[in-house]
Amino acid sequence: MINIGLLEFKHYTDEYGSLVALEENNNIPFDIKRVYYIYGVLTNVRRGFHSHKALDQALICVKGSVKILVKTHTEEEIYTLNSPTEALYIGPMIWREMYDFSEDAVLLVLASEKYDEADYIRKWEVYYPLAVDYFSKK
Ligand code: TYD
Repeated sequence: MINIGLLEFKHYTDEYGSLVALEENNNIPFDIKRVYYIYGVLTNVRRGFHSHKALDQALICVKGSVKILVKTHTEEEIYTLNSPTEALYIGPMIWREMYDFSEDAVLLVLASEKYDEADYIRKWEVYYPLAVDYFSKK
């Protein structure tokens, strides 16, 4: 799907455990200006329900599992994230919803810009025509 990708990370595993290293513009395909994490989400909660106009993000479920629905005006896909060695890359103009968080889930998010409410599109009816226009030019 356009503006979506799965990233697989090298992990350094020995008898002491495992380590994954993330570097901007290396195994993370953008500048990392912000990191946040979501945890303690009840299993019946669904969150997200927005798109970003210009943001790049990488979502890593470092513990537990979570499902991510990504969609545009024409396509939709569901990913299950349950590994600290993979990320879902979400580029601009992708609607996302996050649900089925396991009790222990910790969803780490790397973002290409600092928090900016003006970059959010929080209503599907606002998103839809903007997506038609954006993807027609891709
Ligand atoms: P929000 O983006 O609405 O979360 P979700 O899409 O996962 O449901 O963010 C929840 C709250 O956290 C909202 O009040 C804004 C705040 N927030 C920040 O202050 N900084 C951030 O980087 C993010 C992502 C959210």
